[in-house]
Amino acid sequence: MPASVAPRRILVVGSGGREHAIAWRLARDPEPAELIAAPGNDGLASLARCVPVAADDVPALVALARGERVDLVVAGPELPLARGLADACTAAGIPVFGPVRAAAELETSKQFAKERMRALGIPTPRAETCATLAEAEAALARSDAPWVVKVDGLAAGKGVRVSDSRAEVREFLADALERGRFGDAGRRVLVEEFVAGEELSVMAVTDGERCVLLPPARDAKRARDGDRGPNTGGMGAYAPAVDDAALEATVAERIVQPLLADMRARGTPFRGVLYAGLVLSATGPTVLEFNVRFGDPEAEAVLPLVTGEFGALLAGAARGALDPRAIARAPGAAIAVALVDERYPEDGAGGVIEGLEALAAGDAIVFIGSARRQAAAWRFAGGRVAWVGARGADVTEARARAYAGIDRLGGEGWRCRRDIGGAAASGSAARAHAAAAEEGI
Ligand code: GLY
Repeated sequence: MPASVAPRRILVVGSGGREHAIAWRLARDPEPAELIAAPGNDGLASLARCVPVAADDVPALVALARGERVDLVVAGPELPLARGLADACTAAGIPVFGPVRAAAELETSKQFAKERMRALGIPTPRAETCATLAEAEAALARSDAPWVVKVDGLAAGKGVRVSDSRAEVREFLADALERGRFGDAGRRVLVEEFVAGEELSVMAVTDGERCVLLPPARDAKRARDGDRGPNTGGMGAYAPAVDDAALEATVAERIVQPLLADMRARGTPFRGVLYAGLVLSATGPTVLEFNVRFGDPEAEAVLPLVTGEFGALLAGAARGALDPRAIARAPGAAIAVALVDERYPEDGAGGVIEGLEALAAGDAIVFIGSARRQAAAWRFAGGRVAWVGARGADVTEARARAYAGIDRLGGEGWRCRRDIGGAAASGSAARAHAAAAEEGI
């Protein structure tokens, strides 16, 4: 298939707001593909045929893709990639958007990502890798507060602690290294230098060689307004978070391209979306983390700004023949605000949201997360329930539209941050840290 030919049948793997956003965008292609989702959710069900195959069951996903004769598999979350979904699809001759397991290590092992960045001279905070509590304590003693400690492996967003409290950091380290709280993911930890600055998420769609950057986004990780409260999977995002072509060129030339060349040289070309979580430090963009899939909630804010043939872009990347001209950026800005169980990120109390359909019929964009449809309402038992977003001429207009929509919703047991896209939620690592320290988090 030439790079610019749109796929006809696509399997989207995953079940959250990010996967709903991917399917929503694919459904807006000039020649939309037939969509299948595994396992999908009640929001995705309006766009895709949902099949009850778990997102991390690689053999069953490959069997589904083969049985449905799809011409593209799009991986939403990282877990199937960590379990070898791309390797298995490739072996079965099925084009897949997402990296092979060895390249996915950029997300599944922070130690591996640090090693590659050090080898390539990609700016990243200094870090020591420690396998015992004694080693980690010694590393803490050699550095100053605030301390940043991260478990090496995947920990569902719970594997990072930033704190001024040595006792708190020690407790986290003991949980990881001695009590096995994170399982194998916590057998090694990184003690990392704290770098202050605004944070930025840049996602590059790539075929392993060429790449196209999507509009840069900023997510809000803390649970409460003003970047307070515990870390979450993300409470909202907006894009573009900066309008700086020179910065994007720097990220492409100094971070993305060297890493892609390195992955090619290692025999594991990176195909899919490379997400760079950056801090804009005094010395320039510095990489805090890589992810190997679309950011969540970044996808919910960024994909509404993508015009053109998204399916063809992803298929071209999967086949090693990316056509960057397949898509363009829409003018203006977009925002996505998470509606969450009021106890989130703790276990949920549950509740109901009413009025989402009416919003989606207007100028809001609604993506469903953990909610389940029940007649005209959406029930939930916890987590990130749904997303309300909007586009606008700029972030101010987009956020005004999104919050006007949210204000029309009913139900109970849910809440959202009220400051996504506002000055108080601009993603400053230093501010989030200060707010958390003040609260003793
Ligand atoms: N927004 C951060 C992530 O997707 O992991």
